[in-house]
Order: sequence, then structure tokens, then C-alpha cells
Amino acid sequence: MAEGSGNGEGRGAAALKGRIRELAERRDAVIISHYYCVPDVHDVADFVGDSLGLSQEAQRSPRSVVVFCGVHFMAETASILCPDKTVLLANIDAGCPMADMITPEALVKRKAELPGVPVLTYVNSSAAVKAHSDICCTSANVTAVMRSLPGDRILMTPDRNLAMRTQTLVPDKEILLWPGFCPTHHRVNLAEVQKIKREHPDALVLAHPECQPKILAEAHVVGSTSGIIKACLESDRKECLILTEEGVIYPLRKKRPDKVFLTPETPMVCPNMKKVTLENVLDALETLTPVIKVPEEIRAPALRAVERMMAVPRD
Ligand code: 13P
Ligand code: SF4
Repeated sequence: MAEGSGNGEGRGAAALKGRIRELAERRDAVIISHYYCVPDVHDVADFVGDSLGLSQEAQRSPRSVVVFCGVHFMAETASILCPDKTVLLANIDAGCPMADMITPEALVKRKAELPGVPVLTYVNSSAAVKAHSDICCTSANVTAVMRSLPGDRILMTPDRNLAMRTQTLVPDKEILLWPGFCPTHHRVNLAEVQKIKREHPDALVLAHPECQPKILAEAHVVGSTSGIIKACLESDRKECLILTEEGVIYPLRKKRPDKVFLTPETPMVCPNMKKVTLENVLDALETLTPVIKVPEEIRAPALRAVERMMAVPRD
């Protein structure tokens, strides 16, 4: 088992960070980074957070330019929520394999087979898929959103692991699955988790609901990225086994250097989140590209699904 990696600061990186911060001011830009990006990118960001928190931060910011360090669907969500801002995706090649496991065409076809069944879609999806959905959810609010829906059958897309977890928490609804999953969370190995638990019986085990049910059954805490960070910081246990993308360990270690963060032997790394580099951020600020702009005919229905989610009180 390995501990998650920290950050090494070379002189080149320090100079690059200085240029990025200076240019961000001149461009009237806010830089936002998902927890799963590399530590250097966290360091230049005005805000580091989870999927939805970042888009809300983009909306709240008075800045006219948003540099999004994360994957494509996240920048699209920012564009949906703030159409008047220039939203830049630092690395245009950073996509999400789970979001790509559903297309609007496939969803329209499935909906035709399930007349009257509401569609609940995880925010980890394209704007076009959101546009064909009744409501969205995040891993933090999924149970409240599910309970708020009328009817007893709901189609949930695209993450079947999150849907199966939700089914255990909302047993009075029948949740129909979509066959999508996050490769980074889905591949966590049960034997590795059990071995770490045997070797560290006092460790608090925290898992993201994108992991498979057999992994979640081993966890003391199941939560969104922000939920895992919060529970870890609030716990008085010295050792925490982190079963989500290892990018969360950098902010955790900064806040609690006294704690030990354990990770599975097979690293939980999202290769797409790791594509974003300081050079990408500088290029985006210099060229004001690549712009992510959701067309209005998709934005309006997608916004409706996102706003319905935001109107649901948290449980
Ligand atoms: P959250 O950051 O909302 O927990 O989502 C996890 C994830 O996989 C982001 O891509
Ligand atoms: Fe997609 Fe998983 Fe990477 Fe998140 S961690 S961007 S869900 S592949």
C-alpha cells in the first residue's frame, strides 16, 4: 500500500505560478480546479472543490472569465450556469469516460421504452444528456433528489454504482440502471481493501459512491469528494483509508499533516483530471481558448434540470 503523492516545488513551477496569477488578474479571470487535478494546479486556483461546488463558484464569481481545471462536462455545467461568462477548459482533451457512456440519442431511445418514467441524471454527464433529463443530482444530494421525485420508478443515468447505492437508501422506489461507471472508482480491488483493513484495524475507511457496492460495504463513510474530505478532517482517527481519486490527499495533508492517509495498492488516479498542467492554464489565459459554450437550444433544457436539482432542499 502506498501513501498518496505530495507536491514538489521547483523554481520553474514557482515562476510559472507567479505568471499565471499575474495574468489571471489582468484577464479578470477566476481559476477553479477540481480536487482530482494535480497539486501544482490546486496551488494556482482561486477555488478547489467538487463537481458542483466548482460550477457554483464560477457562477458566484464577479470575474468575467472562468478557467476550468477539470474535465469537459464540468466546464459545460459552468457554461450552463453562467452563459455570459467566457468559460475556458484548461485542457480540451480532458474528458470523462463515464460521461461518454451515455449519448443523448441512446437516452432518447431508452425514454421511449419507459413512457412517464422520470430521468435523474448525475452531473457527471454532457449538457446534451442533461437536456433530455428531468432533473440532475450530485453524489452529495442524490438521496434528497431521488425522494423528491414523483412516481415509484426512476431511470437513473449514467452511473450504475451510484444508482445501486441510492437504491439501498431509497428502497421505496424502483431505480432503473444505466450501464455506466467511473473506471477510476469501479476498479478498486476488494482484496486490497480488506488487506489494508486487516493491517490497520483502527483506520477510518471512506469511499466515494462511484465505487462498487462490495467496496462500499467495507466503508465506514460513503460520501462525495467534499463529504470524504469533511469526514476525514472531523474524525479523531489518525489513519484514514481514502477510496476516491488520490488528488484529495493533497488538501487533506496540508490541513492535517499529523494524519496518515492510506490508499489502495493499485492507485486511484483519473488520467483525464491529471492531464491539466500549469502550462495549459497559462496558455488558456494567454489565448483565451479553448472556449466551452453550450448552444442555447441545449443550455435552456439542461439548465432546467440543474435548477430543479438546486431547488431540492438537502436532507
Ligand atoms: P464529486 O467531485 O462531485 O464527488 O464527483 C466525483 C467525480 O468523479 C468527479 O469527476
Ligand atoms: Fe469521470 Fe471518474 Fe474521472 Fe470523475 S474520476 S472525471 S467520473 S472518469
